[in-house]
Amino acid sequence: MSEKNLESILHESRSFPPNAEFTSKARLKAADLEALTREAAADHEAYWARLAREEIDWHTPFTQTLDESNAPNYRWFTDGTLNVSHNCLDVHLEARGDKTAIIFEAENGDSRTLSYRELTAAVCRLANGLRAQGIQSGDRVVLYMPMTPEAVIAMQACARIGAIHSVVFGGFSAKSLRDRIVDAGAKMVITADGGHRGGQIIALKEATDTALSQECETIEHVVVLRCTGRDINMVEGRDLWWSDVIDGQADQCEPEFVNAEHPLFLLYTSGSTGMPKGIQHSSGGYLLNTKLTSKWVFDLNDDDVFWCTADVGWVTGHSYVAYGPLAAGATIVIYEGAPTYPDGGRFWKICQQYGVTIFYTAPTAIRALMRFGDEVPLSYDLSKLRLLGTVGEPINPEAWMWYHRVIGKERCPIVDTWWQTETGAIMMSPIPGVTATKPGSCTRPIPGIAAAIVDEEGERVEAPNQGGYLVIEKPWPSMLRTIWGDNDRYIETYWEKFNNRYYVAGDSAVCDEEGYYRIMGRIDDVLNVSGHRLGTMEVESALVAHELVVEAAVVGQPHEIKGEAIFAYVVPRGARPVGEDAVAMAKVLRDWVGEELGAIAKPDDIRFADNLPKTRSGKIMRRLLRTIAKGEEITQDTSTLENEAILDQLRGEK
Ligand code: WT7
Repeated sequence: MSEKNLESILHESRSFPPNAEFTSKARLKAADLEALTREAAADHEAYWARLAREEIDWHTPFTQTLDESNAPNYRWFTDGTLNVSHNCLDVHLEARGDKTAIIFEAENGDSRTLSYRELTAAVCRLANGLRAQGIQSGDRVVLYMPMTPEAVIAMQACARIGAIHSVVFGGFSAKSLRDRIVDAGAKMVITADGGHRGGQIIALKEATDTALSQECETIEHVVVLRCTGRDINMVEGRDLWWSDVIDGQADQCEPEFVNAEHPLFLLYTSGSTGMPKGIQHSSGGYLLNTKLTSKWVFDLNDDDVFWCTADVGWVTGHSYVAYGPLAAGATIVIYEGAPTYPDGGRFWKICQQYGVTIFYTAPTAIRALMRFGDEVPLSYDLSKLRLLGTVGEPINPEAWMWYHRVIGKERCPIVDTWWQTETGAIMMSPIPGVTATKPGSCTRPIPGIAAAIVDEEGERVEAPNQGGYLVIEKPWPSMLRTIWGDNDRYIETYWEKFNNRYYVAGDSAVCDEEGYYRIMGRIDDVLNVSGHRLGTMEVESALVAHELVVEAAVVGQPHEIKGEAIFAYVVPRGARPVGEDAVAMAKVLRDWVGEELGAIAKPDDIRFADNLPKTRSGKIMRRLLRTIAKGEEITQDTSTLENEAILDQLRGEK
């Protein structure tokens, strides 16, 4: 990168104060937020120590808050012991044992609920069963499961006995599963006879068998949950039915009290190069931040019905399905199936049916659901909704406004939450009863999170609207502890750039006069066009603001004169134009972007496609698009692509 700062040329002046009714009932009021912010600024460690004492039921209290002796491998609450499952379940039994913990809906519409008491009993039975199969504290257990309550039960059961789970998203291939099993040295896989999605069955057991046929010596047992009832192959001596594992087991289970630093889980996430990184999280610090943010950001109260649509295969499904909201004693919704099955109203139907009050999803889902038109959500009763959230990528102001207007009826605050697999919990977000929101901004850091923007030299960028690297200046409890088996890569990836002074998030961001952050995208998604740095997201945002565009992805293409040219892939509304029509539409869009952002941001080349290459989590595979834009051969792994067939179209005719 050159010395020049990133420049943001996206202007957004709309601001939405929280509505008075929401504020009057909110958990955190302006004065509370101010007090927390002041407390954190006055003494960072004392602040986290106080919260850790109040929020966590410790088995042995900690005496040391932060251990910096191995920085940047920070440790929190090191000499304290606790059990995460105890803190998510047992602590609620007296006051709300009969409260619904989980409402589950299957894709075929079947539903069931589990109270906190029932959930605890189920977790204990499985935990006892796992112990009986020889799983001990510190062992790795890979979960390759459909999005059912049993996925949460399995995670909690591992936590209960100190086993380290590593969830592999059910949409990943046998090869990805195998690589993760080997890297983690896992002893057991918990899977199912199949999962449901979009009317299809996902053959989880077959994929597991394939994975295990390729040198996975550490695996001793495979536990198989019956979900679909279809015929599968059970390997004698290795494979066990879930029902047999829990058969005869007691519904109480003494938790394994572990050190606060004991790894709770690994979760693999892709980096810019090489094998996915096994992000390692802790027990105490992780629990603290996920619980606190569940309460502060989602304003969870006892009568709320909270639905985070993320699969447990992603960190969001860990922090805001399996752990945070349960630690906060909430009722959560779990849905196994596609958002658009059997039609584009499914999410809204579920919200109506269970009286969802808080709804948390990803911008990609919002944009997909927008395509069905306003009539679809308008035909459902969404009056119980009181708070909306988004996560995963920058939300373009057009989608934000649609969410605000059509889903939130201009009444529900929107929390645009910035965080990462690595951060464990939400880092920046509006506090819904306090913070005025601006479309496309995740607003400010939550109290105790020391975010900043720095330039290429690592100096703070103090002037507003000057972009730079997003960094976190002080350690926080739920931060990743290391990359499993590769601490050098941990240091290299997150710390080395600025000599271990800060955690480097890998995102670029800008901050406005009011201290509101706007994420511009990953550092490697930044373009340098004629010496001007442009966030790819800004150009995309401009493109999707046009009525002819549903989705857009922008990448750089080496350019002799400009350094980089802007190459845009566009999914048009309606039929994909070809020939003359494509040329005409491209001109319209170039002019539009020119008007929105300035001539510098006009895409040099626009290619139309029916959809974009995405990972199964909905992230556009930009590296792939960059390769295509350069006209190079695709050498990267495309096995995690949702829609591999689209590659031909993207490579094809202009
Ligand atoms: C990356 C982390 C954290 C759960 C889901 C994604 C992007 C995340 C936002 C947001 C703009 C966002 C960042 C970040 N991102 N949230 N609210 N606004 N960008 O987890 O797969 O670890 O991805 O997602 O680029 O670094 P992840």
